[in-house]
Amino acid sequence: MEWLKLAHAQSFMPTQATKIAAEYDSLYGFLVVSSLISCVILIGGMIYFVIKYKRKTDQDKTAYITHNTFLEFLWSFIPLCIFMLVFVWGWFIYYDMRTVPKDAFEVNVVGKQWSWDFFYKSGKKMTNEFVVPINTPVKLIMTSKDVIHSFYVPSFRIKQDVVPGRYTALWFEANKLGDFQVFCTEYCGLDHSRMYAKVKVVQKDEFEKWLAAGAENLPPLELGKKVYQNQCFSCHTTDGSPKVGPSFKGIFGKDEQLADGSTVKVDENYIHESILQPQAKVVKGFPPAMPSFQGSLTEEEIAGFIEYLKSLK
Ligand code: CUA
Repeated sequence: MEWLKLAHAQSFMPTQATKIAAEYDSLYGFLVVSSLISCVILIGGMIYFVIKYKRKTDQDKTAYITHNTFLEFLWSFIPLCIFMLVFVWGWFIYYDMRTVPKDAFEVNVVGKQWSWDFFYKSGKKMTNEFVVPINTPVKLIMTSKDVIHSFYVPSFRIKQDVVPGRYTALWFEANKLGDFQVFCTEYCGLDHSRMYAKVKVVQKDEFEKWLAAGAENLPPLELGKKVYQNQCFSCHTTDGSPKVGPSFKGIFGKDEQLADGSTVKVDENYIHESILQPQAKVVKGFPPAMPSFQGSLTEEEIAGFIEYLKSLK
């Protein structure tokens, strides 16, 4: 498919720094080239017919043609095949984009007006720049402190809204070393256009060294444990026995029965919601007694607390 490369020369699209970026550009190239060919056939045909069938004398009469089944079939069936090809091709790429590998390295991202914070499980915190190892799947667990932002890395061809009050995720596996630009692509106020960051892709051993050196913050798991001891301890146990509320032992990933008869999977978003709006989904058999922690816990503390819950197997 040499001709496809024409459509994504380096001057036309950003550097391809993931495998998905290359696949994405091939599909995009196909769309551009097939649209161009269709355009030439359509407009060229129109011009040709305008000239060929121009009325020569006043007595010229248009032939009486009602339809042509074969032609109508062709101009419906050929585009259908092309559209289905684009759909299936796009579906495979989208599936890869949205399916996070299980062993992905996790980084928490918090967007706020107008910067990006990055939190590592080791306790490292970065602002407007973060470091990842090459050829390693990385999962970003993202939320916002204020308004809707959007995390976009052109060279990785990934983009996702970052929404206050819930978690969204992105993943990538960079296969090129270097610095890549991150943009905010959701208009979020005065300095939206300057809300950018850098992702630094480095060799694995370099990354390990960087990660091990000086973590100035409490690791999320430790922070989460502190949150539990200070805020949750009096109503929730970690040994499996229920108290005012359900025990936290083995709660992450479990399907929980709710008071209204429905069930919910205990994931990051459910926990986040239950901390800020405890009455939204009350577990069956427990009173709606929990107060909201809106404003009293930071996003870092909530993310840490979720890490702590994950550890209570
Ligand atoms: Cu944040 Cu635009």
